[in-house]
Amino acid sequence: MAQSHDWVGAAAAAIAAFLTYRYIIYPAVLSPLARVPSAHWSAPFSRVWILWIRFVHRENSTLHSTHRRLGPVIRVGPSELSINDLDSVRTVYQGGFEKPAWYSVFDNYGVPCMFSARPGAEHSARKRLISHVYSKSYLQSSTAAAAQSRAILYDRFLPILEDSVAKTQTPHGIDMYSIFMAATMDFIAAYIFGLGNGANFLGDKAYREHFLELYKARNDYGYYDQEMPWLTKFCRKLGVPLCPKWADGANKELGEWCWRLCVKMEDAQESECRPHAGPLDQPIVWSALVSGLRNEKAKRGQASVLYPTALSNFKLSVASELFDHVLAGQETAGLTLTYLSWRLSQSLELQAQLRAELLSLSPNMRLPKDGTPPAMPDPKQLDSLPLLHAVVTETLRLHAPIPGAQPRQTPDSGCRIGPYAVPGGVRVAALAYTLHRDETIFPDPEEWDHTRWLPSCVGEEDRKRRNRQFWAFSSGGRMCIGSNFAMHEMKLIVAAIYSNYTSHTVDDDGMEKQSDGYTGRPENERLFLRFERVV
Ligand code: HEM
Ligand SMILES: *[C@@H]1O[C@H](CO)[C@@H](O)[C@H](O)[C@H]1NC(C)=O
Ligand SMILES: *[C@@H]1O[C@H](CO)[C@@H](O)[C@H](O)[C@H]1NC(C)=O
Repeated sequence: MAQSHDWVGAAAAAIAAFLTYRYIIYPAVLSPLARVPSAHWSAPFSRVWILWIRFVHRENSTLHSTHRRLGPVIRVGPSELSINDLDSVRTVYQGGFEKPAWYSVFDNYGVPCMFSARPGAEHSARKRLISHVYSKSYLQSSTAAAAQSRAILYDRFLPILEDSVAKTQTPHGIDMYSIFMAATMDFIAAYIFGLGNGANFLGDKAYREHFLELYKARNDYGYYDQEMPWLTKFCRKLGVPLCPKWADGANKELGEWCWRLCVKMEDAQESECRPHAGPLDQPIVWSALVSGLRNEKAKRGQASVLYPTALSNFKLSVASELFDHVLAGQETAGLTLTYLSWRLSQSLELQAQLRAELLSLSPNMRLPKDGTPPAMPDPKQLDSLPLLHAVVTETLRLHAPIPGAQPRQTPDSGCRIGPYAVPGGVRVAALAYTLHRDETIFPDPEEWDHTRWLPSCVGEEDRKRRNRQFWAFSSGGRMCIGSNFAMHEMKLIVAAIYSNYTSHTVDDDGMEKQSDGYTGRPENERLFLRFERVV
């Protein structure tokens, strides 16, 4: 009897010793990460602290102040780092570190897209299929993009502003958050599917607002699946889901919406009597993707890195990819335009300067008195307007639509980050929120000050430093593929508005508070502005 007691005691002591070693001594003292300053005393032992910070939406301000206190590389969990200097950012993001499973929530219809694909080789193969249609040179010379933009701006967008001006008796203005979200959806959906097969959110306020509600649910509940996937799955199985059923339902409904767009697209392509699509209805991204996949299958077949992930089921792969573009392209650019119009509405003088610059375009976007829509400006000329570029860039700096952490993982062989040797499989992330508030590069970082980017106000060296630090679109191989599309579309929309109208704040309650999360939205998700025609 006594002997078996000894055995139990010894086993318990051994287990206790092992656990102490594994969960306390190793992480705190022996792990190579032990040298990295801890953001919180518990960070070496447990994820509880950082999970809590994320749960209560205080990640941005917490990491910002912790980096200021402890330097550019900090440990936020047993196997998790946060970085905040350009050297480390270069190591991780330009170094092609792969994405962790955190991005799996961005798989659509159960299959990966380029954004969620994890292995580097698979990602590059996907990117090769479509990146050309998002390049600056392609966009600037695309007759389809020009025709589609023109139709959306002059047939859908400006009439809404004009209508609001006509109603001088309604001083409460119009909700530009919702209207910008609609405009950016219509732009990206037209470029992907063609104007006719794309979306008309500008024309359908009720559906658009329903869509935005669904999208909010999708965004708000990503936390559980991303940060505690096992627990979340387990609870779902048990029938006590961590995120409410309606949030899963919202996701499903959004998926079905995009699925229908893709099916409609296929039917249109297969139809025998299909009229030759003019530039307006050319599905630029859809065509590039479908023909890219077909070529890949014919050329490499089962030897392709995309076999079977993308090549086994075209329908699903195409829908998954395009659903991602539609969502990524809408919210980000819509947010930027909301914040930009809010900032501009605070200064009529700045609006006047901007208008003078916009009218210097030839052709410009001034609306003639007889109501005929003007020509579209030359994309290159539009892109090179310094003031327009400065106001957009400063908005992306202070109100980055993706201010939150963009996690990657260190390669199996380990690596060096700053002065530290880091083992493989460690989660590491930078965030635009903190990079964009480095006072040595952006003095008074909380001020919205477009002159930081103006060649006439800032020396070339400083501007170069700022451009290097600018991280709204991320950097490296996984940086935003839609950055040129987004810049062009936002500049066009701003030019269309401010060539002929002034904007005035009516109700901006909640704009000051941009949400802390992967994406950052104004607290109340609305912004009421009033427009006046310039005479
Ligand atoms: C102001 C507008 C936009 C901003 C600020 C923005 C920002 C970003 C950022 C920060 C990333 C990297 C995210 C990460 O790794 O966690 C990203 C990736 C991506 N964005 Fe954007 N984006 C914008 C507009 C668009 C548009 C219009 C599209 C339309 C196609 C788009 C499509 C994508 C895609 C497909 C990726 C994944 C790229 C890859 O993994 O290779 N984005 N974007
Ligand atoms: C548009 O604005 C310009 C000034 O930017 C003005 O000259 C023109 O008359 C306006 N057009 C209309 C239709 O109001
Ligand atoms: C960052 O955090 C601060 C303080 O919690 C909050 O006021 C702000 O809105 C957040 N901004 C973003 C972009 O996450």
